[in-house]
Amino acid sequence: MNRIQTLYKSNIGKKVIAAVTGLILFGFLLGHVAGNLKVFTGSNEQGIPHIDEYGQFLKVAGEPLLPAGALLWGARLVLLTSVILHITVVVQLAMLSAEARPVSYVKSKKKAASLPALWMMFSGSLIAGFIVFHILHFTTGTIQLGEFEHGYVYNNLRSSFSNPFVAGGYIFVMVVIGIHLNHGVWSMFQTLGIDNPDRNKFLRTASTAVTTAIILGFIAVPASFLFGLMPEAANYAHDLLTGH
Ligand code: HEM
Repeated sequence: MNRIQTLYKSNIGKKVIAAVTGLILFGFLLGHVAGNLKVFTGSNEQGIPHIDEYGQFLKVAGEPLLPAGALLWGARLVLLTSVILHITVVVQLAMLSAEARPVSYVKSKKKAASLPALWMMFSGSLIAGFIVFHILHFTTGTIQLGEFEHGYVYNNLRSSFSNPFVAGGYIFVMVVIGIHLNHGVWSMFQTLGIDNPDRNKFLRTASTAVTTAIILGFIAVPASFLFGLMPEAANYAHDLLTGH
């Protein structure tokens, strides 16, 4: 058995995989929220919102060095692998810890899983479901909760988030993700051995501050459209953006 297999099969190996894949997903969220905030930066001189330009940039990034879309699909592959590995190892860890839990002499019933562990499983499942829904909503346009046109990111956001139920649903899920992240970052510190009684207070405050900032950044988008704080829909010909 090679080293990777040995690591994967061990308890600590699974924890390290959960921590490292969690870190990759955290990095994605950081990049995603930064990209989303472009919605507040207005439009170029041709009236194309900067967030639409950014969406187009992601599609062609890496060209001409790499084939069209190679970087985007590479990133998607890394993300998908991370999500699958993250879910697989945390479910395995939860099952192992349920098996290892000592059975009391007095009562034969197994002790219930701890509240944070239950919360992580519940919120994690909600997030997994959200990701599928979200891609069908804003990337492929399969689920239409407003007007949708490929490439017109600003208008798509504006149209969906003018609906209070859609904006409210997104805000609710962002709060759930925030609490999941806060706990996850803390578990990651413990797994990677970064925690230490001397700096735990600082680490907890820092992780809460960073996750709160990310989540407020995400919430700002649906909230601003919902409360009518954003400019009108953009109106430009699509070939201005794509160049063909
Ligand atoms: C209010 C919060 C959010 C907004 C407004 C938002 C907006 C968007 C938009 C507009 C796209 C499509 C971009 C395009 O096609 O050019 C997108 C893609 C995506 N978002 Fe979000 N997002 C939010 C939160 C999240 C969260 C919390 C996650 C992960 C847990 C996430 C994961 C993704 C993924 C995986 C894609 C597909 C990327 C790709 O492969 O092209 N988003 N998001």
